[in-house]
Amino acid sequence: MAGSALGLRLVLLAALCGAAGALWPWPRSVQASSRRYRLRPAAFAFRHHPGSAAQPGCDVLDSAFARYRRLLFGAGPWPPPSPSGQRHVSKDVLVVSVVTEGCNEFPMLESLENYTLTIDDDQCLLAASTIWGALRGLETFSQLVWTSAEGTFFINKTSIKDFPRFSHRGLLLDTSRHYLPLSSILDTLDVMAYNKLNVFHWHLVDDPSFPYDSITFPELARKGSYNPVTHIYTAQDVKEVIEYARLRGIRVLAEFDTPGHTLSWGPGVPGLLTPCYSGTQPSGDFGPVNPILNSTYKFMSSFFLEISSVFPDFYLHLGGDEVDFTCWRSNPDIQAFMKKKGFDDFRQLESFYIQMLLDIVSAYEKGYVVWQEVFDNKVKVRPDTIVQVWRDKKPVTYMEEVELVTKAGFRVLLSAPWYLNHITYGADWKDMYKVEPLDFEGSPEEKALVIGGEACMWGEWVDSTNLVPRLWPRGGVVAERLWSSNLTTNLDFAETRLSHFRCLLLRRGVQAEPIGVGYCEQEFEET
Ligand SMILES: *[C@@H]1O[C@H](CO)[C@@H](O)[C@H](O)[C@H]1NC(C)=O
Ligand SMILES: *[C@@H]1O[C@H](CO)[C@@H](O)[C@H](O)[C@H]1NC(C)=O
Ligand SMILES: *[C@@H]1O[C@H](CO)[C@@H](O)[C@H](O)[C@H]1NC(C)=O
Ligand SMILES: *[C@@H]1O[C@H](CO)[C@@H](O)[C@H](O)[C@H]1NC(C)=O
Repeated sequence: MAGSALGLRLVLLAALCGAAGALWPWPRSVQASSRRYRLRPAAFAFRHHPGSAAQPGCDVLDSAFARYRRLLFGAGPWPPPSPSGQRHVSKDVLVVSVVTEGCNEFPMLESLENYTLTIDDDQCLLAASTIWGALRGLETFSQLVWTSAEGTFFINKTSIKDFPRFSHRGLLLDTSRHYLPLSSILDTLDVMAYNKLNVFHWHLVDDPSFPYDSITFPELARKGSYNPVTHIYTAQDVKEVIEYARLRGIRVLAEFDTPGHTLSWGPGVPGLLTPCYSGTQPSGDFGPVNPILNSTYKFMSSFFLEISSVFPDFYLHLGGDEVDFTCWRSNPDIQAFMKKKGFDDFRQLESFYIQMLLDIVSAYEKGYVVWQEVFDNKVKVRPDTIVQVWRDKKPVTYMEEVELVTKAGFRVLLSAPWYLNHITYGADWKDMYKVEPLDFEGSPEEKALVIGGEACMWGEWVDSTNLVPRLWPRGGVVAERLWSSNLTTNLDFAETRLSHFRCLLLRRGVQAEPIGVGYCEQEFEET
């Protein structure tokens, strides 16, 4: 009985909901009206404003125009436009204007993404500071278009001013526990753009497999991947991901996690990992990267030289989480090294390694993100290091950790409450939605150090069979929390829009799972 009452409520919500009522994530300010304009697919076009810094030939915008045309009206062909007539005024052009060009550049942490969208009798204008803001505005425009029962396209008179609350709005995919085909990654980037997410955190390698096909060290993938022919990302694949992401205003943050989580590196680089001992004999097992050998740092220098040039983003993610000290403790050479250095705690040894690595990467003019353990273990890091908070264990909750890290003056990314791979029965998205990333004691300056967060999809139980429904629309919940105002917190309002947005995802061919009882006008069908 409870189920049917909820079902009725959802159906009512869906019926109540007009097009602007369906925006996801919710913009800063929306003024909607019931005055509507018709859009005629065959006549409609996106155009650059004559005064815009971007003109035809700007690939980021031109390809976005083509994408959104297809998303809005399908591939066509369309009947020739009937005259606009008395009954409906038509809008045939969305004019797009940006202040700075940057068509050949990559989006950055500092890129402005604000835009204004004005649809009224006089104009149909999208204005933004940058092409990246224009991309966000195009998505909003596409969500405003609705279809009447007769199949006519409309957009209402609307005025929107919008900008993101946080500049880093990420999604982590793990391609080591399970290999994700290139198409799964590219499809994910599309849906990220629908959600205004702007960072793809690519956790490329880990203990189980090393699918990154290194140019300098081809043995890494040859010996460390699940299959060196079918289960790797070639240099060409990586380029394709980076360019596909760029065209959608998404940064690619590559993670090569060390010194733990590196078992798959071992076979390709003999001597890199620490041999574990059982008593006085090597046991045949290996532990974290061996931090006491010069050869380790020589390897890391060459490896990260390649990584720094392959991935154009200023930031690299260097991992540093969950280093297991058991193997280091068992190894007599490590013990001797510790004695020589005067270390009495394995965290000092970990710090020694991480500091060497950070120096290497800094020399390549890259910034870095690390998991919170690097901070917890008091590794000396550069003041501009970004610390990603992922743990939520007593005695320190994730919010307390955010407080500690910002008090120490470091920037923070929050991901602890947003592990999409954790699933439970029911509406688990609500807890993710209720998170307030600045809910800690701190000065305005400390709060400003929280630059955003990430939804994480760890891959133990996820591959391309279940990735999409587990990602969406739940990942969108994190996207709204990071984009929209801190006052956009009403759960009923969110539920209405999220179920609507999920239906939009289905129409766009995304196998997004339901968030409760209800239906979509157009259900998902295998194409
Ligand atoms: C758009 O306009 C139509 C009719 O012109 C109206 O029924 C609908 O509620 C409007 N939508 C919004 C979100 O204002
Ligand atoms: C975007 O924000 C910048 C800086 O805050 C501001 O100068 C600019 O006018 C805004 N642009 C639009 C289109 O809203
Ligand atoms: C490692 O490098 C250090 C510093 O360059 C040097 O003092 C040391 O002898 C080297 N160790 C080995 C085993 O080569
Ligand atoms: C929202 O943010 C504003 C300014 O950033 C702050 O003054 C206000 O207290 C916040 N409100 C809530 C409910 O967090």
